[in-house]
Amino acid sequence: MEYNNIYVELEDSLAMVTINRPKKLNALNTSTIKELHLAFKALEKNKKVRVIILTGSEEKAFVAGADISEFAHFNTKQGGQLAAQGQELLFSFIENLSKPVIAAINGYALGGGLELAMACHFRVASHNARMGLPEVSLGVIPGYGGTQRLPQLIGKGRAMEMIMTGGMIDVERAIEFGLVNHVTSIEELLDFCRSIAKKIAKNSPMAISQAIKAINAGFNNGVQGYDVEVKAFGECFGTDDFKEGTTAFLEKRKASFPGS
Ligand code: COA
Repeated sequence: MEYNNIYVELEDSLAMVTINRPKKLNALNTSTIKELHLAFKALEKNKKVRVIILTGSEEKAFVAGADISEFAHFNTKQGGQLAAQGQELLFSFIENLSKPVIAAINGYALGGGLELAMACHFRVASHNARMGLPEVSLGVIPGYGGTQRLPQLIGKGRAMEMIMTGGMIDVERAIEFGLVNHVTSIEELLDFCRSIAKKIAKNSPMAISQAIKAINAGFNNGVQGYDVEVKAFGECFGTDDFKEGTTAFLEKRKASFPGS
């Protein structure tokens, strides 16, 4: 299949999926989300494929977030739909895929980018990676599962601080928090992920898919949380803070939030 925003390479039992919008730091627009959905769906069906690695093109970004230029003018309803559709097509889809997906974080993983990495089954990062959920600086909240998966992975207090400050953490902090499992040099990142994928590929695909299902089932109490997130995310779109936050980003200036 031909894609415009991603490419997929097959290497024996491994599939490498690369998000390829480097000029926009691989930001996730809706067509990229749709292409990723189709690619993951096809890879799940492909019997040869045992493990998938997801990464970003070039060395600056894994994914610098959802594409702000695409949603800055959205209203409350469109905001809610954006989050709900994205979660269904990509984030929950990957989390519940029957084949392991490893995120190879090769640079910035911000907002929707960190949410995408967190939807993968586990994460490996290169030294230059920076991770954060900066949505509140734009007058919105994480809407692709970030309010649920970040506390699951690093604990509630750390997630509260990261989401409230909107700050970025480096790989040392990410390792300490358990957000990533391994750190490598940028040159070694993909080969290191390949070596883990090879170990996984020796095991029973059936047993692995059942393990994914069972592990995810333990976090099912988060299901309602995702709905709350979608609703709260949508509500942000009807506010002056959201207009100011997104406009400021697009105008390349600092946002000013007067407070209520
Ligand atoms: N959505 C849309 N465009 C984005 C983007 C996003 N999330 N992140 C980066 N870009 C674009 C920039 O607008 C810029 O485009 P331009 O060259 O056409 O002006 C290009 O990617 C390069 O980014 P730039 O900001 O110039 O790079 P930088 O090195 O100065 O800063 C970041 C890098 C990651 C710190 C900065 O791009 C950033 O803060 N991005 C947004 C992160 C964010 O808030 N994500 C959450 C979204 S919900």
